[in-house]
Amino acid sequence: MAARHEPDPAPPGPEPRTLDELNRMITESRPPMAAATRAVLGEGPIGAAWAFVGEQPGDQEDREGRPVVGPAGRLLDQAMAEAGLDRSRIYLTNAVKHFKFVQRGKRRIHATPTAGEIRHYRWWLMKELDLVGPRVVVALGATALTALAGKAMPLMANRGPTRFGNRLGFITVHPSWLLRLRDPEAKAEAWERYVADLRAIRVLAAPS
Ligand code: URA
Repeated sequence: MAARHEPDPAPPGPEPRTLDELNRMITESRPPMAAATRAVLGEGPIGAAWAFVGEQPGDQEDREGRPVVGPAGRLLDQAMAEAGLDRSRIYLTNAVKHFKFVQRGKRRIHATPTAGEIRHYRWWLMKELDLVGPRVVVALGATALTALAGKAMPLMANRGPTRFGNRLGFITVHPSWLLRLRDPEAKAEAWERYVADLRAIRVLAAPS
């Protein structure tokens, strides 16, 4: 299954030539959601063999200013370790760069980004991946898949290896989905399949 890779209109101004320039543009941009604090940027080595794309920063990521460091991030770290992937050699980012939430008392509750919000960040995400240059791009969950494919697609039916434009890709679930599973048997099964996905992702980046 080859996913579409349509160019999105570039934001006004000169095209960023480096990741630092791109990150400055993202940081200075106005977020499309009303209650947003800071932009949480991608993290990891330029030239990493793998880039993992999540949905959006959560409460903890927004507080720390780093992607994928909250409960879902810790679960992803655990699965990566079990699959023999070293997080320090992976570039991690999000499709949406600001935390979208609803305030309930003192708590900030995650809110799912709309298609328009995903589109808002897409040019930046594509540019970011061009500047990092991974061999394999991993979509973690439905929002990342929509952003990378340029259209909404069913996640489970497409789970597995794919292409995003001219790059190798892999579609898998978001670790927060695993966190939400309650039934112990279903959880254990989902965990095994997740680690198997990550093993396949590790192998996919091996030079042919
Ligand atoms: N979920 C994501 O998709 N990204 C984060 O950075 C944190 C949670």
